[in-house]
Amino acid sequence: MRALLEKIAAEGEVVAGGVLKVDRFLNHQVDPHLMKRIGEEFADQFRGERPTKVLTLESSGISPALMTAYELGVPLVVARKRRPLTMTGEVYRAEVYSFTKQEANEIVVSRSLLDGFDRVLIIDDFLANGQAALGMVEVVRQAGAAVVGIGIVIEKAFQDGGRLLRSRGFRVVSLARIASLADGVIRFHEEVMN
Ligand code: G4P
Ligand code: NA
Ligand code: NA
Repeated sequence: MRALLEKIAAEGEVVAGGVLKVDRFLNHQVDPHLMKRIGEEFADQFRGERPTKVLTLESSGISPALMTAYELGVPLVVARKRRPLTMTGEVYRAEVYSFTKQEANEIVVSRSLLDGFDRVLIIDDFLANGQAALGMVEVVRQAGAAVVGIGIVIEKAFQDGGRLLRSRGFRVVSLARIASLADGVIRFHEEVMN
């Protein structure tokens, strides 16, 4: 997605340890116009799968996921990392191991929000090792629902997540694929910038 690649090239910063900082439009400050276009693109890509819900994980997945749900005309479900006081009923839960933080966290979704009739589109801001996406897949599995696709804003194609998810048969659509962040330079996988 050209507008996204241009934004990453213009405003993305490589920080230590192969991490791409996009705090000016995605992770801290958020560009609503770009999020709207991202939502339109994911909706176009997945509309044919007739999703009934969009699922993301708090917090940074929410902006693109909300615009996607809006475009598709379906609810957004936000998996929580800490069980809120108000989440009193039964929950689906999955362990998510973060390689970046070297810690395991639980994600929870109320059982009242997903059931066996749902067709779930998973949306997230980053795909690195794929553990967050796999945690969401596990929640959907527990609900007896179907994963109809996985939409990722920025895939770090030099990490294993994309291969892992695609090898399990999931349709993964990434709007930007980063081939390398070596030497502090952002290199894209396919599309070439002018
Ligand atoms: P994984 O889910 O793909 O296995 O990723 P990993 O454990 O490595 O990453 C943990 C967190 O770091 C996730 O956010 C993920 O989105 C984010 N992340 C991974 N690589 C990058 C990167 O290069 N740049 C940025 N900006 N983020 C990256 P999180 O901890 O769940 O936090 P948040 O959603 O509340 O921001
Ligand atoms: Na994040
Ligand atoms: Na995220």
